[in-house]
Amino acid sequence: MLTNSQKNELIRAAVEVRDWAYVPYSRFKVGAALLSKTGRVFTGCNFENASFGAGVCAERVALGNAISAGETEFVAIAVCGDDKPTPPCGICRQSLVEFGEIIVYCADSIGEKVTEFTLRELLPVSFEFASKNP
Ligand code: THU
Repeated sequence: MLTNSQKNELIRAAVEVRDWAYVPYSRFKVGAALLSKTGRVFTGCNFENASFGAGVCAERVALGNAISAGETEFVAIAVCGDDKPTPPCGICRQSLVEFGEIIVYCADSIGEKVTEFTLRELLPVSFEFASKNP
């Protein structure tokens, strides 16, 4: 469980990083902020490319930043999109699912409207590899 101030800080971080989204094709900016078990916050925004498949979602940018800093266990992620709360896409759900029991805050672009889920609610049955070595 997060405190109210942890939750608000996470949503604010997602709103702030959203400004940097590089989205000349969709014009749909997304910001994400991921809270590690150790209390650190990692952010990411989406970026697109003329070769459309080369773009990456905000959540996976945040996840890559966190993993690159040695973090592999998370407690929550805030995602903010446009005029209504934005839930993570299917690929991002699968990407996050092996890194903990994560709470997902879906927010609008200014972090005012927020809906809350667990990642398990959003992805009840996920793909898992038979053997996982740390
Ligand atoms: N996008 C995200 O960043 N996260 C999601 O979970 C859904 C979609 C981005 C990808 C693309 O740059 C834009 O939103 C429109 O699909």
